[in-house]
Amino acid sequence: MSDASLLREKNYSHNVVYEYDCRNLVRGFVLKGGKPTLLLIAEENLGSPEALLDLSILESLLGSSSVTYEDGVLDGLSLVSQGAVEQVILDESIFDRERIYLKTAGRSSAVELNPEDLRKVLADLGFDSESDKPRLIPYDFGYAASEQTTKQRVISGIQPSGDMTLGNYLGAIINWKKQIEKYDENFFFLADLHSLTVLPDPADLRDRIRQTVMTLIACGLDLKQAVLFRQSDLGGYHSELAWIFSCLTPEGRLEQMTQFKEKSQKQQIIGTGLKTYPILMAADIALYQSTLVPVGDDQRQHLELCREIVRRFNHRYGYTMPVPKADIPKALARVKSLTDGTKKMSKSDENRDGCVYLLDSPDEISRKVKRAKTDSDPTLRFDEDNRPEVTNLLSMFKVLSGRDSEPNDAIEAYFNGKGAKGLKEELTEVLVETLRPIREKYNELATTSEQVDVVLKQGVERAEPIAKKTLALAKQRVGL
Ligand code: AMP
Ligand code: TRP
Repeated sequence: MSDASLLREKNYSHNVVYEYDCRNLVRGFVLKGGKPTLLLIAEENLGSPEALLDLSILESLLGSSSVTYEDGVLDGLSLVSQGAVEQVILDESIFDRERIYLKTAGRSSAVELNPEDLRKVLADLGFDSESDKPRLIPYDFGYAASEQTTKQRVISGIQPSGDMTLGNYLGAIINWKKQIEKYDENFFFLADLHSLTVLPDPADLRDRIRQTVMTLIACGLDLKQAVLFRQSDLGGYHSELAWIFSCLTPEGRLEQMTQFKEKSQKQQIIGTGLKTYPILMAADIALYQSTLVPVGDDQRQHLELCREIVRRFNHRYGYTMPVPKADIPKALARVKSLTDGTKKMSKSDENRDGCVYLLDSPDEISRKVKRAKTDSDPTLRFDEDNRPEVTNLLSMFKVLSGRDSEPNDAIEAYFNGKGAKGLKEELTEVLVETLRPIREKYNELATTSEQVDVVLKQGVERAEPIAKKTLALAKQRVGL
């Protein structure tokens, strides 16, 4: 599991059991001394008693009306060997996985083993689906994403609301490309329904959609490995799940969102959509059973809310979709405007001098960087709080020159004595070279624009079956 770090290895009778510090996604139940105890529960953060299944399912299964969740009482499989257990109910689908992660109590760790070994362990302990007592009861809880422990599904969206910026590139696109190299299942989409929240001109929006697709391809998004689709092509699924989610989302949470506060100040009409925007975003993610969401830092809050909504849904209606994780770049998660280091570089910014656009010519880049705001201190230092503009330029240089693993003081030392002018010159150079192939590829694509339609059509074909399945399950869960 990619985000698990190995803590230690130990020999178990049937298996080498690896202890991982990781998310735990196995679900199963054990009846201890007549008292049903949830054996394996945590979606992540093993310390938290976070239930994934509707207790009523368990209650009807066990013929008991007093099922409670317990946390921290079990130590891996050892409780199973204590003899007090009468029944184990496991979701059958876990046996289809390559790896199973079991919770261990009191520690932030999980054991990993292969499914066959779990069968052997259970059989040895007398838990066997054939025998009467103690019993192993296979039960299909109908998880839509039973393979999720072994597979990551990546999703992310971008609004076709303006020319794509260096912020989009460094905050999101670079990371999308990295995920494509790492994982097999990658979904990216144009969040055009989200773009409607700021009431764009219809003809502009249509153009932007095409331009955004071409820019993404020009950035090197490998569409053999990734699915790229337009949100509104599957808008029925997205908006229906968003509606279901909206019924579970406390209104007050939406008002706390920074993006809502900022954007609503700029709008003459504050549409309801501007406020409910993160609910649609949660639906975008959950609809594809996604586990990992590469986004820039500005989306952190939205992702947190998405996680809350998915947890709430799973808790109330039974496990239906994974709780996704944000994947936010460490080095430069929020690229700031060139003219105001306290503001993010944004494609909707009216001041175009604050943004480096991915299709800017070398002259434009050079002009904007030359004019970029700095301060009067000639020594260049990373200092986010007191020198946001210089920090922004240094960080851009650091990432774009491929030196992001170096400590900040190495970059400071490199620019020692060169001053802001030297930094700007070198930054311009590296920006021009990074963006040159993107601009060239874009211009090439612009001559054959029918490729956009082909890409989007293929995207829908690949995305729709998953959206359809999740929505059907979610509707069934809520009683529709
Ligand atoms: P948007 O342009 O708002 O649709 O954003 C698309 C993606 O780019 C999201 O993952 C954002 O978090 C990311 N992004 C946009 N602007 C920036 C920025 N200035 N710095 C870092 N990431 C950004
Ligand atoms: N809200 C995101 C932005 O403005 C775009 C977006 C919409 C998104 N739905 C998403 C990003 C789902 C990731 C996952 O940048």
